[in-house]
Amino acid sequence: MNEAQIQYGYIEKAKQIISEKAREKGGSLTCCVQTFGCQMNARDSEKLSGILRAVGFEEIEDEDADLVIYNTCTVRDNANQRVYGRLGVLNGFKRRNPHMKICLCGCMMQEPSVIEKIRKSYGFVDLIFGTHNIFKFAELLVGMYESEGMLIDIWKDTDQIVEQLPVQRKYPFKSGINIMFGCNNFCSYCIVPYVRGRERSRKPEEIIEEIKSLAADGVVEIMLLGQNVNSYGKNLENPISFAELLKQVEQIEGIERIRFMTSHPKDLSDELIQVMKNSEKICRHLHLPLQSGSTKILKEMNRRYTKEQYLALAEKIRREIPDISITTDIIVGFPGETYEDVQETIDVVKKVHYDNAFTFQYSKRTGTPAAAMENQVCKEEVTRHFDELLAVVQDTAREQAKKLQGQTLDALVEEINEHDDSLVTGRLSNNMIVHFKGGKELIGKIVPVYLRECKGFYYLGDMQ
Ligand code: SAH
Ligand code: SF4
Ligand code: F3S
Repeated sequence: MNEAQIQYGYIEKAKQIISEKAREKGGSLTCCVQTFGCQMNARDSEKLSGILRAVGFEEIEDEDADLVIYNTCTVRDNANQRVYGRLGVLNGFKRRNPHMKICLCGCMMQEPSVIEKIRKSYGFVDLIFGTHNIFKFAELLVGMYESEGMLIDIWKDTDQIVEQLPVQRKYPFKSGINIMFGCNNFCSYCIVPYVRGRERSRKPEEIIEEIKSLAADGVVEIMLLGQNVNSYGKNLENPISFAELLKQVEQIEGIERIRFMTSHPKDLSDELIQVMKNSEKICRHLHLPLQSGSTKILKEMNRRYTKEQYLALAEKIRREIPDISITTDIIVGFPGETYEDVQETIDVVKKVHYDNAFTFQYSKRTGTPAAAMENQVCKEEVTRHFDELLAVVQDTAREQAKKLQGQTLDALVEEINEHDDSLVTGRLSNNMIVHFKGGKELIGKIVPVYLRECKGFYYLGDMQ
């Protein structure tokens, strides 16, 4: 028996337990899955939902449920603090519903200090597991219901990739697909390699097969996920480049849009630029994290490119694919960062003209090399630098957005507008959002939209 078959066995067993509990309750058991992290974390949540539904839970949005699972993130400290804050609220629900189960998983759980703290101060938690054994969720559920007290199962690492388990997609028409797991880059500020383990690529055949079945199920847009997709395939038995994988994905009938995340600038090949340029389906959007514009700081960050190399790369991409939108991530306040370093970053923002940038204040992550650096920047200075950078980022993004006003572009309709239900919200190939008149029958369809008015970071438009 392979691992997936073993887990399907546990799904059957969990089903019996849950149906017994539902009989006692006099109605189906409810569950709530909360995602705290990135797209990969969100994709993992879809796997958790898939298992929970397969064993008989009814999934709801409300955390006052019979089972709540937090899929945590630890990339910055504020993600951790949110989890601790909300656990208090869950405890309140559990006091009123003693049968309630509280589960924690995801990146934060890979940190021993976190487990220590939860053991000590959050004794009401029922199940804790990490990022490496999420495929065992059905087995862990059975274990949790069959035992008393807190069940903890954390693995340090794994080379296992378990295929073919149930997944419940959040959107019927679009989906993320893991193409690789883990990260080998060890940027000096980043905890991801420690909590996600070493880089492992899925076999191209498995990826293609999964995308084909998604297409057959009505998915038109896919996002290929990995911490550094540009190094995809290098360690496979039969090595293959990311660009080559994209070419194969492009052939799949029914898939109309292809996105991917994230690209590390050091590994972005000319081959990839050409594949993007010649593709009908790959979206006109590239997320290319800069982190810092100062070559000195980049070196300390272990990013393995210089300011000049990054600028040359961005320029080449804009030259080859003029209608592409480039977005980025920037960290302010890395140890030793001076006002002059921040000016270098601002200089890159102005030169690249980012269509959008996510700016973060540096957060010290225990166990990373940067956490041990002595020259940490004080909070006030970080805030000042951050505000100055943010103003420039917003100006450039606004200027970029204005450029498309008056054009007609295809939008994939994602949902009814949150504030006005006579409008729908669509996403352009370049990842920008447009709101226009329409109803729910448009959801999942790609339609041409005239971009009437730019509202800064989104458009108001008219379907053509
Ligand atoms: N693999 C992706 C990034 C994943 S984390 C990449 O390399 O691009 C997403 C973003 O969080 C990073 O790009 C970085 O900007 C930010 N980040 C990571 N660690 C951080 C830290 N310790 N403090 C602040 N921001 C951080
Ligand atoms: Fe973190 Fe760097 Fe890996 Fe991205 S590439 S996940 S920033 S170590
Ligand atoms: Fe967070 Fe883990 Fe993603 S730390 S950013 S959820 S890989």
